[in-house]
Amino acid sequence: MIFYFSATGNSKYIALKIAAETKEEAIAITDCVKNQKFTFEVKKTERIGFVTPTYFWGLPSIVREFLEKLELRIPDSGCPYLYHVATFGTTTGQVGRMVDEFLKMKGLALNGRFSVQMPDTWTPVFNLTDKEKVEKINRKAEKQIADVAGKIKRELAGDFSRRKVPAFVAQLFYPQYEKARETKHFTAGDSCIGCGLCAKKCPVEAIEMRDGKPVWIKEKCTLCLGCLHRCPKFAIQYGSRTRNHGQYVNPNVKGQEL
Ligand SMILES: Cc1cc2nc3c(=O)[nH]c(=O)nc-3n(C[C@H](O)[C@H](O)[C@H](O)COP(=O)(O)O)c2cc1C
Ligand code: SF4
Ligand code: SF4
Repeated sequence: MIFYFSATGNSKYIALKIAAETKEEAIAITDCVKNQKFTFEVKKTERIGFVTPTYFWGLPSIVREFLEKLELRIPDSGCPYLYHVATFGTTTGQVGRMVDEFLKMKGLALNGRFSVQMPDTWTPVFNLTDKEKVEKINRKAEKQIADVAGKIKRELAGDFSRRKVPAFVAQLFYPQYEKARETKHFTAGDSCIGCGLCAKKCPVEAIEMRDGKPVWIKEKCTLCLGCLHRCPKFAIQYGSRTRNHGQYVNPNVKGQEL
């Protein structure tokens, strides 16, 4: 069983690649949260994976909510192999450790921690307009994905994640996510054609269509930037710097439900 959260496809693509390798089912965390399904029966021989993006060197809030509520019904004899794969652009910070902390509250622990570097979808800072550069990052990721999937199949134990920072440094940076999550930073411009895709796809139902335009109805969202990256007209912006930094959806899962 592989639980994944993905707004722009990187984590979904990797979850599907691992699922193909281990012959296990990939389940979208967004669906679990929308359907309020948090209890799962686990088979004795099963591996339990979590594949998530890194946000502000930690976990997206929707993944936090899922992990808080998650209940794994594990057979008495034996504990499954548990792992986390962080997808990230530049720095994983302490994201694996955060997953481990949630599991520890349930008397469980991660056996394997992994990471794969992908295009960085945090476009208030990073620029994704250079298509060749983006393709190069995705090409380079293939080797990392194969390596991670191989280690998971062999149930290797250990922390194999890259680009970490000391816990006390991550603890200083991660709180900035809370302010950044305020939806007042979003705007929809005149190029909006009122298709409603942003509202339909928002994982936390933070957008409503009113008079043919998106309106952010919640004070905070999970800040996945899915609305910005997947808008067919690139009408949504976050602050003043995203306009010149382009849009991105992982080319291998483009057009799929994420
Ligand atoms: C709000 C936000 C914050 C992010 N913070 C980080 C970060 O701290 N470190 C990092 O390396 N990448 C960061 N990223 C980049 C994503 O983790 C990365 O692009 C990921 O692969 C996106 O996954 P997805 O396509 O499955 O949604 C951030 C992206 C977003 C939207
Ligand atoms: S996805 Fe883009 S074009 Fe469609 S309603 Fe939302 S902002 Fe408008
Ligand atoms: S409003 Fe946009 S950025 Fe926020 S959670 Fe919804 S889709 Fe993601």
